[in-house]
Amino acid sequence: MTTSLQKMIIQDRIALKNGHGNMPYLELRFNGAEVHLYLHGAHVLHYQPAGQRPVLWQSKSSLFEPGKPIRGGIPVCWPWFGAHPNDPKQPLHGVARLAEWEPVRSSATSEAATATLKLPASVYPDASLQLTVELSDHLSVTLTTINNRDTDINFTEALHSYFAIQDIHAVTVTGLEGQRYIDKLSSDKSLQTQNGPISFSAETDRVYTDTSHACAVIDTALKRRIHVSKENSLSTVVWNPWIEKSIRMPDFGDREYLEMVCVETANCGSNAVTLPPGQTHAMHLRISTQKDS
Ligand code: BG6
Repeated sequence: MTTSLQKMIIQDRIALKNGHGNMPYLELRFNGAEVHLYLHGAHVLHYQPAGQRPVLWQSKSSLFEPGKPIRGGIPVCWPWFGAHPNDPKQPLHGVARLAEWEPVRSSATSEAATATLKLPASVYPDASLQLTVELSDHLSVTLTTINNRDTDINFTEALHSYFAIQDIHAVTVTGLEGQRYIDKLSSDKSLQTQNGPISFSAETDRVYTDTSHACAVIDTALKRRIHVSKENSLSTVVWNPWIEKSIRMPDFGDREYLEMVCVETANCGSNAVTLPPGQTHAMHLRISTQKDS
């Protein structure tokens, strides 16, 4: 264990553990709630509020291998979302989720347990990237980019949250009513307008643009509502692969699409970020839950 990793440990609040694939993760604790933050990809894989079921979904078929993404939790997509803008050989969703991140600092107070990781400068010298996870009566995740160059940088990004649900057929996503989106599955790339809450009966892959609205994942089977709010994010991606794509994906169980939905906090497409030299951009995600009666 390196000294800098050891320094992250805070008795009873932040522990260093060995996870799937022998990969190290930090376990943050706050009043009975728990978060697992993997160094691989700065990946929040697990969030469980006290006395509740896990809020984040993880695939039983996920890989836990160097250079491969983890399936589930909150992958960090950066500095591009989806395919690379001009090099198809580059990995989908950028290099951040494939890299081993480094510890920066941690703290634990009566208000929260907090840990910050950074992407090694060698992975992407043009910018400094940090991820801060704060566990309190909710979960906060902040992805901070600083431009190290003397010219503008452009990037796209997402905190690609996978939410655990009881049954996709009994789930709606609210908050995007009337918002405009691009349907990634349609050859028609013009903006569509969301009519009412989102429900799911087929593969769904949509990028809602120019929206900073909060969303809720309403899980009627589980009687739970997951609130997803954000700052400095103008895109929201809603994704469920449904059955055929699930079968095609090697790291995704054939029927696991039934128990997950992605509502992703992003800046992508026409909401790409242009950051002037020396400037900082911080995209912020907040997740909390509510019991429905
Ligand atoms: C979503 C995209 O954000 O991520 C989908 O909109 C994509 O098109 C999905 O299939 C999963 O991507 P990956 O690279 O993790 O399999």
